Amino acid sequence: MPHNRPPRLLQACRCEPVDATPIWLMRQAGRYMANYRALRTKHTMLEAIHTPELATEITLQPIEAFDLDAAIIFSDILPPLQGMGLDLDFIKGVGPRLGNPIRTIADIEALATPTMAETMAGTLAAIRMVKKELMPRGIPLIGFSGAPFTLASYAIEGGGSKSYAYAKALMYTEPAAWDALMRKLVVVIVDYLTLQAEAGADVLQVFDSWAGVVGKLDYERYIRPYSQAVVQQAQATGVPVIHFSTGTAGHIESVAEVPSDVVAVDFRLPLDEAWVRIGTDRPIMGNLDPVSLHAPWEVIKERADDVLARAAGRPGHIFNVGHGILPATPTDNVRRLVDYVHERTAA
Ligand code: CP3
Repeated sequence: MPHNRPPRLLQACRCEPVDATPIWLMRQAGRYMANYRALRTKHTMLEAIHTPELATEITLQPIEAFDLDAAIIFSDILPPLQGMGLDLDFIKGVGPRLGNPIRTIADIEALATPTMAETMAGTLAAIRMVKKELMPRGIPLIGFSGAPFTLASYAIEGGGSKSYAYAKALMYTEPAAWDALMRKLVVVIVDYLTLQAEAGADVLQVFDSWAGVVGKLDYERYIRPYSQAVVQQAQATGVPVIHFSTGTAGHIESVAEVPSDVVAVDFRLPLDEAWVRIGTDRPIMGNLDPVSLHAPWEVIKERADDVLARAAGRPGHIFNVGHGILPATPTDNVRRLVDYVHERTAA
């Protein structure tokens, strides 16, 4: 079991020196862990998310198994949409599905914006339960939300998408309706993030996962203003906010104009280049390719060394994978990576 340690993650979020580089892994609780798979044979994904005892147990699974510097509350980005009136389900082998996707202006007008204190009561209770376990160990807890565009694209497409044709058609042809939809999402997301901070989340992460499916012009016009509103209003809680996006190597400067405390980058953009482009006085998170964790240790080590070399020992680096860790990842590789990053960077 990990013992008490300095709050490296929080120090790195403030660009302060650390005794070793903090590391946590996106999707660190999940199907690559046998105890997670065992629990999921007995409960659906939505049960696991909305039952505080189950979400607490899953959140703590990787904390018991690895020497991680942070826990992230077990949930998903999509359940807040349930409170807005969307029918969410997670289908085995397919992924998330929304049964009644938004397609018309009337659909947007019909969307509710209830307080997330009700819709996400289970997650907020889980945050309070997890905090009791983590506090004595000195491990911070990360709360999170999807960013407006990522949630809007699921709500419009009804699930994952390759072209985002419906979402883009709406933004191009009905800009006022697009604005109305994004404003409703901002209200719900800010409420949810604020409640998570009040329940005890030490850091908040905003998943702008699909911010790279448009070019710079559209990102700046149709996506960024709403991400910016979310990040700035979430920062009013006093908790640091990490802004994560993927596929944004072409316009990372533009993403970094959202005044988040930490910019998280995917694995496509070399960390040193990303850091110069966003400014080296700004904390950065990333960015090992999660698929490299399937490789032999020598390959993983070479890539971890590359990430660390590009970070150049500067304060403000949070080590992470550049996108979520995959279900076939061997747990031994995760353990070795976490320990290696600490050993290599120990002051
Ligand atoms: O990081 C964590 O451990 C916290 C929990 C978390 C999950 N999803 C659990 C999950 C977080 C932070 C997410 C974020 C998420 N979910 C994003 C943004 C990050 C990213 O990957 O870009 C997105 C786009 C989603 C939507 C989503 N949820 C998809 C596309 C899928 C299906 C793909 C898959 O891996 O099955 C999910 C399901 C999901 N979310 C699982 C988990 C552990 C798998 C559920 C299961 O089958 O048990």
